Amino acid sequence: MLSRNYGTCLLLFLLVSSTLFAPSMSQLDSPWAAKKKHMREKVRKMFYHAYENYMEHAFPHDELKPLTKSFTDSLSELGNLKLEHLPENYNGSALSLIESLSSLVIMGNNTEFERAVKWLSENLTFDIDARINLFEVGSRILQEPAA
Ligand SMILES: *[C@@H]1O[C@H](CO)[C@@H](O)[C@H](O)[C@H]1NC(C)=O
Ligand SMILES: *[C@@H]1O[C@H](CO)[C@@H](O)[C@H](O)[C@H]1NC(C)=O
Ligand SMILES: *[C@@H]1O[C@H](CO)[C@@H](O)[C@H](O)[C@H]1NC(C)=O
Repeated sequence: MLSRNYGTCLLLFLLVSSTLFAPSMSQLDSPWAAKKKHMREKVRKMFYHAYENYMEHAFPHDELKPLTKSFTDSLSELGNLKLEHLPENYNGSALSLIESLSSLVIMGNNTEFERAVKWLSENLTFDIDARINLFEVGSRILQEPAA
């Protein structure tokens, strides 16, 4: 009998305490929500920092070299360190822009996404007599839009 009473008391205590503690549960949520918001903002800032500096200093070449604010063209340079068979005024294939497309969509930046797609549809050409790196084509051009 005693143990049954004890059990009832415990049950009551749990019921009451769960209502009592309910508000503090949502207070527990809010630092997490704030942290998530903070992290989201941080990621957004990092993305735009990289993206805008690439567009300013390297585009339409393949990558930004951030310390020297210059560029590399890895599609043609990797595996072709002597840069053989490259046209004289080769400007790369805007690889970083292609890779940024999915991020722009995730960031909800439809205007910039549209601008990028328009640029690529009008200006990206593979009709170039160059030795290129097939692995880079597979992992960065063909896979990226599918990702
Ligand atoms: C590469 O860029 C330079 C400078 O903007 C330009 O003069 C040249 O025509 C471009 N090359 C090609 C193949 O479009
Ligand atoms: C979209 O991207 C462009 C280029 O980085 C930037 O200037 C613009 O502020 C962005 N728009 C939004 C809504 O974040
Ligand atoms: C294609 O490139 C040319 C030369 O840089 C530029 O003037 C034009 O606006 C580009 N096309 C698009 C759709 O952005």
